[in-house]
Formats: sequence, structure tokens, C-alpha cells
Amino acid sequence: MIQFVVPGLIPKFPVLRARCIFDPEVLVDISRQLEFPGPHGCEQADRFSLILHDVRIGGTWKRTNRGRLRSTEEMLCAHVAPALRNGLTFLDMGASDGITTVDALRVLRHAFGECVTALLADINLSLLRYRWGPIIEYRGGDGEAIMVRLGRVGVRLARQRHEQHANNWFNQQYLRMKRLRRSMHAEAPISLVHPLARREPGIAVIKLNCLTHAACLNGRFGAIRASNVLNLDYFDSAQLYKAVGNLHLYMRDGGCLVVSRNQDERGRELENGSVWVKDGGRFRWVADFGGASEIKSIVDRWPGR
Ligand SMILES: C[S@@+](CC[C@H](N)C(=O)[O-])C[C@H]1O[C@@H](n2cnc3c(N)ncnc32)[C@H](O)[C@@H]1O
Repeated sequence: MIQFVVPGLIPKFPVLRARCIFDPEVLVDISRQLEFPGPHGCEQADRFSLILHDVRIGGTWKRTNRGRLRSTEEMLCAHVAPALRNGLTFLDMGASDGITTVDALRVLRHAFGECVTALLADINLSLLRYRWGPIIEYRGGDGEAIMVRLGRVGVRLARQRHEQHANNWFNQQYLRMKRLRRSMHAEAPISLVHPLARREPGIAVIKLNCLTHAACLNGRFGAIRASNVLNLDYFDSAQLYKAVGNLHLYMRDGGCLVVSRNQDERGRELENGSVWVKDGGRFRWVADFGGASEIKSIVDRWPGR
């Protein structure tokens, strides 16, 4: 569907809303403005995450916002073992722009002291901008076409997770224009990491696929959170077992794992999640919050080492 590329608020009315798509260039403007935040700094910070609500890459939305994972943070404060609190290193898997990593770092430092540090991990950390004359195409890190625009008119090209929603006729025709697309030249990437997360010296950023084992992270973390990423809609059981196995390797013994998914309920977001502790070769369940994690049985049944 052809949409209007809007720099400001997307209308609430569903029919108009479906006709609009956020302008990714606004992310660059906001990053510049937040280098020297003025009186509207908070508003601008929230706008950055709001734009990501409208970005889908690799079949998953980048949706996030400040304050949406409070229960997970309370759980980490309650269940991280006292022996691991001092100098805690925290992994936020699938953190999107990392504004919730900034939240978690604040809360964990308040509880355990200033030595806490965090690693913001996500598979998609930037959009690449390609141009041919007035036509601009935005691509994900692996080359996936995300959106094409001509001035204020644009089309979302990003892959959908489920086959039945596969790209429509217009998208397929555009994606077939291989010569045009090959002759586009690359411009500067657009960072999808929130400027406040980039500016925080206690947060390091890593491009990471939760399904791929990164040996450099083994045994480093006293706390790991995976919120709104290890979902049954996104991954099958075999993939979830693999992801859980990787998190187990990254965790220190006695470390705390929180997995959750938010649910929209009458204009509010409810957090449903579970908490486990690494106990030797397995994860031992310790608590649920909200309606529990939808992958609780997978973590509990994970065969361990
Ligand atoms: C809905 S956002 C959740 C962001 C944040 N955790 C929150 O709850 O607000 C899901 C994030 O998971 C990331 N993601 C999807 N597949 C992933 C994978 N295989 N490995 C790591 N991150 C992934 C996406 O890029 C996206 O930023």
C-alpha cells in the first residue's frame, strides 16, 4: 500500500493511520537534537522510540518505550543473588533502541550501586539508506528492503513473518527492479540505538542474534532479560531451546534470567513473565509475574547440559 511519509504524529483514526508511515530521517534529527537536550528533551526522547513502533525488520517490530518493563526490573532487583550484585553485568537481549536498557540500568544501580553495567544486544541496530536520484530505499543490516520513498510518498517493503501476509503485487514489482536497486548508492547508516543509550557510558552495544552463540559472552552476566523477543510468534520451539541454551552459556552460575512479553489491555500494557536462576547445568524456576512467560514450559523443559 502506498503511504504518506509523515515526520510528526501519526493520526489515531485507523483508516488514516493505515495510510501513514513514519519518516526514518526524523531519527537522525532527534539524535542531533539530543546531543544538546533542551526543555523538550524528554518529549524528543519518547518520539525516537515512537518512530521505532512503526519499523518492522526481519518480520519483527522494533516496538519499545520508556517504562514498559518495570515489573522485569523489580524482578531482577529481587532475584539477583547477593553475591553477584556488586559489579553486576546485565544483558538486555532484543533491546531494540535500548531505552528500556537505560531504565534497567538506573533501577539496578539504585538497588546495587553504581558499578552495574549493561550490554544492549539486538539483531537490528541500524537502517542503511540507499539512493538513486530522488528514490530512497532503506534496508536492514542484512540487506532486507524495509521501505522505499519518493519524497513524501512511501511503501513499506519489510518482510512479514507469516507467509499468508507476504508482500503485495506493488512490492513484488518494485523488488523485481534489480537493476535500479543495484545501481543505488549507499549513504550514511541511520542508527536505531536511542541517543540516550548511546550516551550512557555504562551501556555497551552489540549486534547479536539470540540464535547464534557468541563465545565471547560466555559466563559474563549476573542478570539477563529477554522481553518481547523470545515469543512463540517469532520462533519455533527448536529455536527457543537454542536461544535458551545460549543465554545459559552467557550467564554466571546463580545468575538471574527474566523472560517476558507485554500484552495490550484496554490502553494499558500488562507484563507477563517468569524468572529463573542458573543452577549448574539448568535453569531453576523461581517466580512468575502477571500471567507468566508464554515460553515457561520451554525453559523448564530445556534439557540442560
Ligand atoms: C518488540 S522489540 C522489544 C524491545 C524491548 N525488549 C522491549 O520490550 O521494549 C523486539 C526486538 O527484538 C529484536 N530481535 C528480533 N529477532 C532477534 C534475534 N534473533 N536476536 C536478537 N534480537 C532480535 C528486534 O530487532 C527488536 O528490536
